[in-house]
Amino acid sequence: MAGIVLNSGYSWKQQRRFTLSTLRDFGVGKRSLESQILEEIKFLHQAVLEKTGEPFDAHFLVNNAVSNIICSIVFGRRFEYTDERFLLLLKLMSKALHLQGSMWAVCAFLREEIENHQKDWDPSAPRDFIDCYLSEIEKRRDDPEAGFHEEETTSTTLLWAFIYMMKYPEIQEKVQAEIDRVIGQSRQPTMADRANMPYTDAVIHEIQRMGNIVPLNLVRTTSKDTTLGGYFLPKGTQVIANLTSVLFDGKEWESPHSFDPGHFLNAQGEFVKMDAFLPFSAGKRFCPGEPLARMELFLFFTSFLQTFTISPPEGTKVSLDFQFGVTLSPKPFKITVAPR
Ligand code: HEM
Repeated sequence: MAGIVLNSGYSWKQQRRFTLSTLRDFGVGKRSLESQILEEIKFLHQAVLEKTGEPFDAHFLVNNAVSNIICSIVFGRRFEYTDERFLLLLKLMSKALHLQGSMWAVCAFLREEIENHQKDWDPSAPRDFIDCYLSEIEKRRDDPEAGFHEEETTSTTLLWAFIYMMKYPEIQEKVQAEIDRVIGQSRQPTMADRANMPYTDAVIHEIQRMGNIVPLNLVRTTSKDTTLGGYFLPKGTQVIANLTSVLFDGKEWESPHSFDPGHFLNAQGEFVKMDAFLPFSAGKRFCPGEPLARMELFLFFTSFLQTFTISPPEGTKVSLDFQFGVTLSPKPFKITVAPR
């Protein structure tokens, strides 16, 4: 991921082009990926069901499930939630986000997967992201500037979703009422349902706004001399486009510091797009994972509340305390689930 996120100029262009086209080729925005996500959701629900009634920390299960989506794109397969090697990788990545350490182990895991792929690699029939990556490396042997990578953030947003749904049970109930009305209990949600579920859509947007998981965006550098808002910025100046200032701007939001799905609804209860909703940033470097992340958020969130009601463990209060690494994430917490 560092290959694209922290990159610039020629190398960045190569990586961005490669990431976008590979994500597209492997079904982002297509039905095939939707059914893969829905399959993964079944595994997640099975694992959660086993925890019924006992308080548990959902972090690793959710992280595991969401990571499996990117794994099916990158590695061409999913991993069992009990796979020790995969669990270790996820733990290390979670730590790495906070410490920027442990990266060698992540690289070792990737190297092993790549070596496995190389054994039966057929450049004319790519199976997944790694196969495409191998082809791309092959094509660019004489091009040392180009190199490729991947990563993600959706599970942190889902953890915030659990927190806010526990904190505001009346909002959770309204989402469940909309799910029951539009989808019912006899089938899984699909992306086509979103247009008929303005309240749920608004709640997910509000979770992203309040969750504010990339508060300071990523540090960027001006590629040429420029003037912005009357300030001269010479080429090479580091710039932080502060997303928090937009997501909590008092001129844009009626009550910026309150959790209110009404920020995204008009008087008729219809969903309204807000220009200041920029958790994925804007401009040339905006997040290329946005369509995938939005699809995952809708399907995971809606399916979860279709199947379970979430509440804080008895005798505990919901805390909005956060920890700040590369992303802003909730402090470890437990949930209790009850099947509906
Ligand atoms: C809720 C989930 C996500 C949020 C809030 C998010 C947010 C962001 C933000 C704020 C940036 C920086 C944009 C800038 O510098 O202007 C970014 C960059 C990026 N994101 Fe995401 N992201 C999410 C999920 C994903 C996923 C699922 C993927 C991968 C499939 C992804 C891949 C990337 C990449 C490759 C970049 C670097 C783009 C570049 O440097 O040109 N993101 N993301």
